[in-house]
Amino acid sequence: MASKELREKFLKFFEKRGHKTAPSFSLMPPDSSVLFTTAGMQQFALELEGKQDPIKKFGSQHLVDCQKCFRSDDIGEIGDDTHHTFFEMLGNWSIGQDENGNYFKEGAIKFALEFLVNELGFDKNKLYPTIFKGNKDLPPHQNFGSGGIPRDEESLKIWQENNIPKERIKEFGKEDNLWGPVGEVGVCGPNSEIFFDRGEKFGCNRKDCAPNCVHCQRFIEIWNLVFIQYYKDKNGKYQLLPQKSVDTGMGLERMAAILQNKASAYETDLFLPIIQELEKISSTNYKLQTTNYRIIADHIRAAVFLISEGILPLNVEQGYVLRRLLRRAMRYGKILGAKPGFLIPLAQKVIEIYKDIYPEVQSKQADILTVIQKEEEKFKKALDTGMKETSSVVAQGDISGKQAFDLYQTYGFPIEMLKEMAKERGRKVDEQGFNKALKQHQEISRAGKEKKFGGGGEFSAELHTATHLLHSALREILGEQVKQMGSDINLERLRFDFSFERKMTSDELKKVEDLVNQKIKQDLIVKKEEMFYQEAIKSNALAFFREKYPEKVSVYSIGGFSKEICAGPHAKRTGELGRFKIVKEQSSSAGVRRIRAILE
Ligand code: ALA
Repeated sequence: MASKELREKFLKFFEKRGHKTAPSFSLMPPDSSVLFTTAGMQQFALELEGKQDPIKKFGSQHLVDCQKCFRSDDIGEIGDDTHHTFFEMLGNWSIGQDENGNYFKEGAIKFALEFLVNELGFDKNKLYPTIFKGNKDLPPHQNFGSGGIPRDEESLKIWQENNIPKERIKEFGKEDNLWGPVGEVGVCGPNSEIFFDRGEKFGCNRKDCAPNCVHCQRFIEIWNLVFIQYYKDKNGKYQLLPQKSVDTGMGLERMAAILQNKASAYETDLFLPIIQELEKISSTNYKLQTTNYRIIADHIRAAVFLISEGILPLNVEQGYVLRRLLRRAMRYGKILGAKPGFLIPLAQKVIEIYKDIYPEVQSKQADILTVIQKEEEKFKKALDTGMKETSSVVAQGDISGKQAFDLYQTYGFPIEMLKEMAKERGRKVDEQGFNKALKQHQEISRAGKEKKFGGGGEFSAELHTATHLLHSALREILGEQVKQMGSDINLERLRFDFSFERKMTSDELKKVEDLVNQKIKQDLIVKKEEMFYQEAIKSNALAFFREKYPEKVSVYSIGGFSKEICAGPHAKRTGELGRFKIVKEQSSSAGVRRIRAILE
């Protein structure tokens, strides 16, 4: 079954059963306390918490979607049969339990079995569900007394009632079967994962080989059914939510591989054109260099999607993850004998594969290719000389923290890359030492910045408020991918750096200027509120760079137009600002623009 058909089948199956399809949300999640969207439920987090009515925002309590996801934690696993950085997650939700026919464990399990067996043709005898075995030690809290979180007897019973014999139902602890939250706090609950037995040829032949086997990938997880019941709070305690919900996730890639009878998704229609293109431009083939091929294919695909959302290769946050993907792909390309520039035709293949499902990869094609080309050019020279330099360091022994930091500073070699290069020659990198050197460096540059800021004395509150208006105006006119990269304010002018790939047109500059002046004319009240950081993020307040904020923060809102976490000070009303004028727009560094503006 083609992957396109699988996507459609899944959505249709649940639509027919009263679910409404929600479009995929961005790869950058609504809650910016985490870097990426790693699960389908993130866009429904407030609804699952019971704080927002799902009908209001999504038109139903029963939802289904195919969500773009990115998991940077899995970078090290890429190359095996089942992991990807970027992937698509199919999921269905039933939010809250009430008289409107919402379902919980029984409904979720029945739907899953029906879909797998009747729609996809799975042999029920090869399905192995898992359940949560309970944990007495989990922090007690007001609702539980001291009993911890109980074993999921209910799911065990339901699986058996649905003709899955007890021997095939395995039990695991909190690492495997208590899902969530995404990030430090949030909704979570016991889960029941469905594994598929791929057969002995994928196995380790150990007697106790079973789902979650650490030796082989014979059993692969194909569907995760989460029974959301708790909220894990900042003290690590599990609070009972006012409602119960179902949240499920099925990896499209894994399922496509099974349905297309392949060992991994790299051999399916989702990847094959990329792999074949790479075979054309490298001096070796997929069979001989499987892992290296897979890494490059995974990374270029993820990079295309990240760039399509406005992320650029930088040294911080999402941008740094993208940079690592591209640079790692370039190094492996070099090993395979591909010539510089090889990532471009691969990116074009990715765009071809996905353009009908995610039109943004095509509409942003020019940006995507330019960004990749620039990063390749930038890193090309450093890659050659850096690889030589690293080789000579490694020839003498392990890489010290200082040496690793110098290689990172001079050649832009991410630490993972250095670790891999060292490992290939049986050496190690002192990662702790590297982190220490990096931290020292960051502290020195931060101190430098603070000094320049002059302790707040030389600072105009009006220009500060104008900066917030400018930030929101840029996001409104250029798109939400615009992110603050830096800001400097004195008595005369503001300077604002933001992520954006190209020069702004004069029309865009005028629109931004006009919008800020319109907000000034409206004489909006600048409101300050104190709240918890998590609460602020959930209320969509913008934060800067995931800076280490204190637990309680101030949030400044200007009308409904701007909302940012900020220490102030600000004007009381926008009417105090005078006329806003942009005096210059220029490049600040690669992918970052700088605006200087004044108040007249
Ligand atoms: N939220 C669940 C997961 O990510 C379904 O696996």
